[in-house]
Amino acid sequence: MRVIVCDSHEEIARLGADMIEEIMKSKKDAVLGLATGSTPVNMYSELIRRYEAGELDFSCVRSVNLDEYYPIAPDNDQSYRYFMNKNLFDHVNIDKANTYVPDGLCEDTDAFCASYEAKIAELGGIDIQVLGIGGNGHIAFNEPAEALEPLTHLTDLTPETIAANSRFFESEADVPRRALTMGMGSILNARKILLLATGAAKADAIATLCAGKLTTSCPASLLNLHDDVTVICDRAAAAGLQA
Ligand code: F6R
Repeated sequence: MRVIVCDSHEEIARLGADMIEEIMKSKKDAVLGLATGSTPVNMYSELIRRYEAGELDFSCVRSVNLDEYYPIAPDNDQSYRYFMNKNLFDHVNIDKANTYVPDGLCEDTDAFCASYEAKIAELGGIDIQVLGIGGNGHIAFNEPAEALEPLTHLTDLTPETIAANSRFFESEADVPRRALTMGMGSILNARKILLLATGAAKADAIATLCAGKLTTSCPASLLNLHDDVTVICDRAAAAGLQA
């Protein structure tokens, strides 16, 4: 695992965007695995900047998102589909038909989850998966548990995650209690993984991840099974790492 500690959020955004740019330049129809949440927003802005500067072309790019609340409509301003449109897709020349976010309104969730895995396979797999990390070590909505799910599934959110995500809602009661999420295997199948982390609230999770052991109480620690993971974080998130 490569760990890069940055002095500013701009540097994190730049280095993250560099990794995505490198893949997009080597493969026009790259499959980007994307995350929502506050952490990747600056990197998405940097990608938009590079697109506007004529440095990046998204016309053939495909994307798959990690997760979506359930149930939620795509036009709800709290949905992850809405987030992706607002923070990236609406500002670059990606064909929205080539962007996949789990369907927060699907009726048969088992069938939907199986079809989402089939879609990722049909796209040829994910070239680079962008991840944030929860303070409790979750990645996507794979929450700490005795057992973790390998593939896309419907899951309950933990009280911790509901509380953390309530900052985006009017009240905690409005946060959906469930989500559709890629599983640990769906994430580990990506050819490259880029995990971004900022802030002191992520320090324990980053320390556990970088300790190199596997524990389902910190789902991110399973990334130690992958041979191409880059962690880019700020000093606050890196506070628990040995110098
Ligand atoms: C979002 C996702 C979540 C977030 C995590 C960190 O698609 O899968 O795992 O990456 O909750 O969220 P932020 O970046 O808001 O701290």
